[in-house]
Amino acid sequence: MKRKVMIDQAKVRVLLLESIHPDAVSRLEAEGYQVESLRNALDEAELIERLPGVHLLGIRSKTQVTAKALEAADSLVAIGAFCIGTDQIDLGTASRAGVAVFNAPFSNTRSVVELALAEIIAMTRRLTEKNNLMHEGVWDKAAVGSHEVRGRRLGIVGYGNIGTQLSVLAENLGMHVSFYDTADKLALGNAQRCASLDELLEQSDVVTLHVDGRPGNAGFFGTEQLAKMKPGAIFLNLSRGIVVDHGSLRDALTSGHLAGAAVDVFPTEPKGRGDEFVSELRGLPNVILTPHIGGSTEEAQADIGDFVANKLTHFIQEGNTTLSVNLPSVALPAQSGTSRIVHVHTNMPGVLAQVNSILAEHHVNVEGQLLSTRGEYGYLITDIGGSFSSEVLDKLQGMSQTVRLRVLS
Ligand SMILES: NC(=O)c1ccc[n+]([C@@H]2O[C@H](COP(=O)([O-])OP(=O)(O)OC[C@H]3O[C@@H](n4cnc5c(N)ncnc54)[C@H](O)[C@@H]3O)[C@@H](O)[C@H]2O)c1
Repeated sequence: MKRKVMIDQAKVRVLLLESIHPDAVSRLEAEGYQVESLRNALDEAELIERLPGVHLLGIRSKTQVTAKALEAADSLVAIGAFCIGTDQIDLGTASRAGVAVFNAPFSNTRSVVELALAEIIAMTRRLTEKNNLMHEGVWDKAAVGSHEVRGRRLGIVGYGNIGTQLSVLAENLGMHVSFYDTADKLALGNAQRCASLDELLEQSDVVTLHVDGRPGNAGFFGTEQLAKMKPGAIFLNLSRGIVVDHGSLRDALTSGHLAGAAVDVFPTEPKGRGDEFVSELRGLPNVILTPHIGGSTEEAQADIGDFVANKLTHFIQEGNTTLSVNLPSVALPAQSGTSRIVHVHTNMPGVLAQVNSILAEHHVNVEGQLLSTRGEYGYLITDIGGSFSSEVLDKLQGMSQTVRLRVLS
């Protein structure tokens, strides 16, 4: 699959599947690319038929980009996953072919934060219970058990993209914020870092989980952690279903130890829309259950479309791989009047020296150069002033370590 590609920018072909947001289509069309956007996902056989000649492929979560499909993709340089996950793509084969994969890891974080805040207020005011009673015809006008969030302490477990944004907005609502993270994190605003999870659990009126889904986090929040929470506290999980033991959570709620919970993610989730949702948390009062919609807003979808389309455009035009899921991250500002050679290679000693000796032998002047490696692969951008012969490219292409060579000018 060792390929040399020179793409005429005016003839870039883009195939978008699964009804990708119109913002992405317009962004790519504005570059003059030929964009074909299909409503549905394609299966492997259809992809094999459609991919030859396509430079950029855009998918969401349903399209499986298999090794066979990638082998048929003779001109493909990048795949945009217009979503968060990239499990649907054979990343190993993509890397071996020098195909960059991009996704949108941050686009829906604000949506998750807003849902968490809405739920914190709703549970602290016992809105779900009041609402249910009203629908049953009961006028339960009482302040007992209802609180303002102002002045209450929010404990954020996992102070990453989502946890930090929540920290800032919660402080703006007048909440005090504590956080616990296994990594060293800068405290934003007046947030207080806790030295241990126990410290956070013992002091927080609301505990919310925003950890990542690394295998070590499976079941990390169970009976012991729930018991350490303050009596009457509220619990939220909008991170990953596997991190919480739902049997223990049910016990903590039915015993009255916790005053409420909001859960958006579950250890096993129904496959399709309309399928039955089975959970021990169903039917409990002051428990908000949502079908993994933390990041599902129209704004997040538009942001994903824009973000990934931008990544693809920068990759095609400049070869920069910032935030690529599979290739080393390299960003070298483009210089006018130069040609750019992008060299994806297997990561072994001496590749840079070999590339530069080929360039030197042919009296090619290097104006700028940046190399980064990641695991098995290296990614080298070289900016060249003046013209150079096709023999230079043939020699670079002929190197045993070359995975892919691309020339941009
Ligand atoms: N509900 C939804 O629809 C939805 C949408 C987007 C993201 N998510 C999930 O939200 C979670 C957070 O996303 P993010 O973008 O903020 O991730 P992130 O990687 O930026 O942050 C995760 C943080 O958790 C910390 N961490 C990991 N394990 C920990 C542990 N055991 N104890 C304490 N800290 C721990 C990490 O050091 C990191 O700082 C992820 O699991 C993600 O999958 C859910």
